[in-house]
Amino acid sequence: MSTPNPWTVVQAADYEQHMGPEGLDQRAPLAAVFQEAYLAAQPGRLLLLGCGTGNGLDHVDPSVTSRIVGVDVNLQYLGIARQRFFHLGPRLELYCAEAEKFRAAPGAFDLVHVPLLFEYVFPEVLVRRVAEWLGDGGGCTGVVELPGGDGPPPPSKPLQLIGRAKRLVPPEELEQLFEHYGMPLRREHTVPLPHGRSFWVGSFGRPLK
Ligand SMILES: C[S@@+](CC[C@H](N)C(=O)[O-])C[C@H]1O[C@@H](n2cnc3c(N)ncnc32)[C@H](O)[C@@H]1O
Repeated sequence: MSTPNPWTVVQAADYEQHMGPEGLDQRAPLAAVFQEAYLAAQPGRLLLLGCGTGNGLDHVDPSVTSRIVGVDVNLQYLGIARQRFFHLGPRLELYCAEAEKFRAAPGAFDLVHVPLLFEYVFPEVLVRRVAEWLGDGGGCTGVVELPGGDGPPPPSKPLQLIGRAKRLVPPEELEQLFEHYGMPLRREHTVPLPHGRSFWVGSFGRPLK
């Protein structure tokens, strides 16, 4: 039997407090990174992996994007996302699943956004799946945490355990994996964060056929 994903028991209130201004203060920067990726891609079909409570989804324009799929292992987060983004109606599909095992048709998405998930999965498995799901000319944005910095401790025991389950993924490792699966790096930048922390954002793409 496989061990349950430790994220399934992290309460939304604890996670959002930890990521908000009283904690690491990363919610707003993550939403800004999503907005930038979204505006650059203008995707008709969007897949958000490790979507949590839907941070950033308020930037989605329903007249541009007809299908928005969010995947997360934590059912409570998905319930909150559904309530917060009720106005998106049936365009927004939320699935409680391990991203690596999520099933979608080949070429089903124009943009796959992966914010702070590679740290908790086998990156190779996820990149291989993203390569299947992206349509011609589609792109994937990966956001990973870089080493360094500090900040307030996690407010709950489950969140402390998450810290131990995390493995930082070097950007070069992601770059090589995406390249291997036919999605070379298009753009990259670093986002400075409070408490001396930082994110690396890589935009990968499949060429138009
Ligand atoms: C660090 S949080 C990032 C959340 C969100 N993207 C944000 O911007 O705040 C990681 C998210 O990935 C989810 N998660 C962890 N492992 C997962 C997996 N194997 N498949 C899908 N979601 C997963 C967690 O439940 C959590 O919502």
